[in-house]
Amino acid sequence: MDNRYRVLDRLAEGAQYIGGRLRPGSSGRTQDLVDPATGETVHTYAAAGAADVDAAVAAARAAFPGWAGATPGERSDALHRLASVLGEQADALARAETVQCGKPIKLSSEFDVPGTIDNTAFFAGAARVLQGRAAGEYSGDHTSYVRREPIGVIGSVAPWNYPLQMAAWKILPAVAAGNTVVLKPAEITPLTSLMFAQAAREAGIPDGVINIVSGTGRDAGEHLVRHPDVAMVSFTGSTAVGRRVAELATASVKRLHLELGGKAPFVVFDDADPVAAVQGAVAASLINSGQDCTAATRVYVQRPLHEELVAGVADVMAAVRLGDPLDPATDLGPLVSHAQRERVAAVVERARGYATVRTPGRTPGGAGAWWPPTLITGAPQDSEAVQHEIFGPVLVVLPFDTDDEGLALANDTPYGLAASAWTRDVFRAHRATRELRAGCVWINDHIPIVSEMPHGGFGASGCGKDMSMYSFEEYTQVKHVMFDNTAVARKDWHRTVFGDRNG
Ligand code: NAI
Repeated sequence: MDNRYRVLDRLAEGAQYIGGRLRPGSSGRTQDLVDPATGETVHTYAAAGAADVDAAVAAARAAFPGWAGATPGERSDALHRLASVLGEQADALARAETVQCGKPIKLSSEFDVPGTIDNTAFFAGAARVLQGRAAGEYSGDHTSYVRREPIGVIGSVAPWNYPLQMAAWKILPAVAAGNTVVLKPAEITPLTSLMFAQAAREAGIPDGVINIVSGTGRDAGEHLVRHPDVAMVSFTGSTAVGRRVAELATASVKRLHLELGGKAPFVVFDDADPVAAVQGAVAASLINSGQDCTAATRVYVQRPLHEELVAGVADVMAAVRLGDPLDPATDLGPLVSHAQRERVAAVVERARGYATVRTPGRTPGGAGAWWPPTLITGAPQDSEAVQHEIFGPVLVVLPFDTDDEGLALANDTPYGLAASAWTRDVFRAHRATRELRAGCVWINDHIPIVSEMPHGGFGASGCGKDMSMYSFEEYTQVKHVMFDNTAVARKDWHRTVFGDRNG
C-alpha cells in the first residue's frame, strides 16, 4: 500500500474495538473507505451489526463497576496519561484524520488534534472537581447532601465532519465521570475514533471502558440507541437523524443529549471593520469545507457596507488554494464524500434559479469530491439556501437596513447553535449577545472554541452541552441523600398518618 495510506494498516484486524480488542464486524455487510481527494477506495472493512453492538454493550457493562468505583484521582491520572499518548501520536492522528475526511493537514494538525489533546487534559482535571450544593440541615432534623453518580453505559453516535474531536467530546466527559461508553462513529470515518480508543488502552484505561462499533446508522446505530442496557444516548449529527434517535431513545426512557445541525448567522453592522468582517466571513464559512455545524452560513450586512463586503468576500474566496489535503500549502480540501458533494451541488443548482451564484476559485479536477468556494447573493430569506443547512463551502450574503431587522433576520431559522455580530459599538455588541438566539455568540470573531466553555444549541440545534463542566455534569445523575439526625422513633410528621395516636 502507498505510504499515503499506511495509517490504514491499523484496521488490518478489523474496525470494531470491543473489550480492548480489534475485530471484524459480523453484520455480513462491508463498508468502503474512500479517499475523498482521489475517489479511490482505499480500504474495505466488515461493518458492525446487532451482535457486535450487543458484545460492545456487554463489555461496557462489565467494565462499569470497576471504572465507576475508581477514585476521581485514578480516573484523572489515566486521562492525563491519555493526553500524553495522544501527544506522542499527534502526527499519525492528524494524517489519519486528513486521509479519511479530506480536510487540509494544517487544519488536522493545528485544530483537530491539539483540540482533542486539550480536551483530554481538561477532563483529566475535571474528573477531580465534581461540584454540588453544600450539605446542610435543610429540614432541621436531617443532614441532606447530593451525590453525583455515573449513569452507566453511554451509547454515543458521532458524525464524520470532525471524527476525532467528536469521539473526544462524547467519550471524555462520560469516562471522566465514571461511565463506560460504546461509540458509533460515522461509518465512513471510523479510523481516528479507533486510534483514540487504542491510545486509551495504552494509557491504562481498562478494557471495556471505551468501545467502538463501526457501521451504519441503520445496522449499528439504531440497535445501540434502543439497547436496554444503554442508560443514556449522546448523539451528534443532523437534525433529521436526531429526531429519529430521540424517538428510539425515549421509547425506553433513556437520558438524551442531542447536538444537531446549525445555520449560523454572521451579522455585520455598519460601524464594523470591513476588512475583519470579510476575512472572518470567508474563514468561518470555508473552515473544514464548510462542513462545520457552527460555520458562518448567512452573512447579514447593513446596507452601507453590503457592496464592499460582497466584493471583498469574492476576492478573498478566489485566492483560496484547493488541492491535495496532505499538502501543507492547501487551504481547502474536497468534501468528505461524493454523496456530500452531490447534496451541496443540488442545493447550489436550485439556488441558481432564485439567486446570483458565484464560484470564485478553481478546483483541482479529477475524481475527488471537490466543490469550490461559493457565494450566493440576492436569495430570499425564506429560500432553501438561507433556511437549510448546506454543509459545504457556501456562503449567502444578504443586506439589512435597521439593527432590529438584522437581528430578526439572523434569528429567523429553526436552528440556534452559533451566531456572531461584528461591530465596534459596545452597546450594539451587548444587544446582539442578548438577542441572538444561539448557544454561542461571538463578537468580532466566529469559530473559536475552548475546552472550558460549553458548546450546544437552542431550538432545532438540540439540547445539552459538549465540552466544559456543563457536559461533565450531564454524564452524571444527581442523588439526594437525607440522613435522620434525631434517632427518634415517632417523628413529628408521622402525625399526618397516625393522628392522635402518634407519640
Ligand atoms: P447524520 O445525522 O447523517 O449522521 C450522524 C451519525 O448518525 C452517523 O454516525 C450516522 O451513521 C448515524 N445515524 C444515521 N442514521 C441513524 C439512525 N437511524 N439511528 C442511529 N444513528 C444513525 O450526520 P452527518 O451527515 O454524519 O454529519 C453532519 C451533521 O452533523 C450536520 O447536520 C451537522 O450540523 C451535524 N453536526 C452537529 C454538531 C453539533 O455539535 N451540533 C457537530 C458536528 C456535526
